[in-house]
Amino acid sequence: MITKVYKINRDNIDTDKLKEAAAILQTGGLVAFPTETVYGLGADAMNPDASRKIYAAKGRPSDNPLIVHISKWEDLEKIARDISGKAKKLADAFWPGPLTMILNKKDQVPKETTGGLNTVAVRMPKDEIALRLIEESGCLIAAPSANTSGRPSPTLAEHVLKDLNGRIPLILDGGEVGIGIESTIIDLTEEIPVILRPGRITNEMLNKVIGEVTIDPGLISEDSGVKPKAPGMKYRHYAPKAGLVLVEGEEENVIAKINALTEELQKHEKKVGIIGTDETVSRYLGDYVISIGARKDEEGIARHLYRILRDFDELGVEMIYSESFSSQGIGQAIMNRLLKAAGHQILEV
Ligand code: TXA
Ligand code: MG
Repeated sequence: MITKVYKINRDNIDTDKLKEAAAILQTGGLVAFPTETVYGLGADAMNPDASRKIYAAKGRPSDNPLIVHISKWEDLEKIARDISGKAKKLADAFWPGPLTMILNKKDQVPKETTGGLNTVAVRMPKDEIALRLIEESGCLIAAPSANTSGRPSPTLAEHVLKDLNGRIPLILDGGEVGIGIESTIIDLTEEIPVILRPGRITNEMLNKVIGEVTIDPGLISEDSGVKPKAPGMKYRHYAPKAGLVLVEGEEENVIAKINALTEELQKHEKKVGIIGTDETVSRYLGDYVISIGARKDEEGIARHLYRILRDFDELGVEMIYSESFSSQGIGQAIMNRLLKAAGHQILEV
């Protein structure tokens, strides 16, 4: 299969290209498209065969459910039951935007889309291309991140092409995404809503709108006996091909430790990548040192993270050392992804 890539100008969307993408979805095919978080790999959520194709293209385990993307509130009522006042408040506050809600599903939603669960994950994305694609196709679009299973999520169309070339017919290229890490997931089927995956919408932001929220213990625990409730969070994920180790502590100690570790590996002719910040990059010795941004600019750090992990893969780096970040606010999502990519390898210095 040839994979076409269409550049789409968000401010002046080419209707012919959009119609071609919509036709593929309507006939049960796959289209990759940008959202404000990461690129998604879309299929008609109500068509079980179409959903199955997503799992095949990504090499995704079939028990890992998909997020259904909608463009208006009424779409939610087609697929979810028991929509609570809290769900309404969250939608008013954060949709369209990077928040996914878990609700009880209606019978019409195929089990293929929900990985066999009786609940459904729903999100209204903010990207104009994504919204127009949903409307033009008349489909609710099931879409996981458009990467091969286990790889970092794509923040550029080039990343999608790298992973899925020849496996899908079309990629809509809307340039670099704005947020760079996947949506926050909140489970509203529990009395007290539970955050299953941290993201750009932080605990504090959710708390302000609906009061108490808790965090899935399976997310925080390193004990593999505690399973996260979002099936996708249990896999080693967001991972580069190289090993990744985080180093945490006082800035001076971190720099010294990373430099020492790097020198040691370089003696053995290993290619080492270092993830530093604008404040520190000039002080590292490695051959491949990349700044993830200014320490204060958490939005920038989130946006650059996956691209850097992929860039190191392209460079053939065998080991990556990274600075560690605060776990407050958006930092919680950044550290969640970094720790998972590192398989929880963290050195305290
Ligand atoms: O930002 C995003 O959410 C991106 C863009 C494309 O919208 N999508 C995304 O999808 O990250 P994916 O498939 O890579 O991650 C979806 C996560 C998985 O961890 C999955 O297990 C969880 O959502 N999930 C989906 N449905 C669920 C459900 N009914 N109950 C619990 N977790 C669910
Ligand atoms: Mg994913």
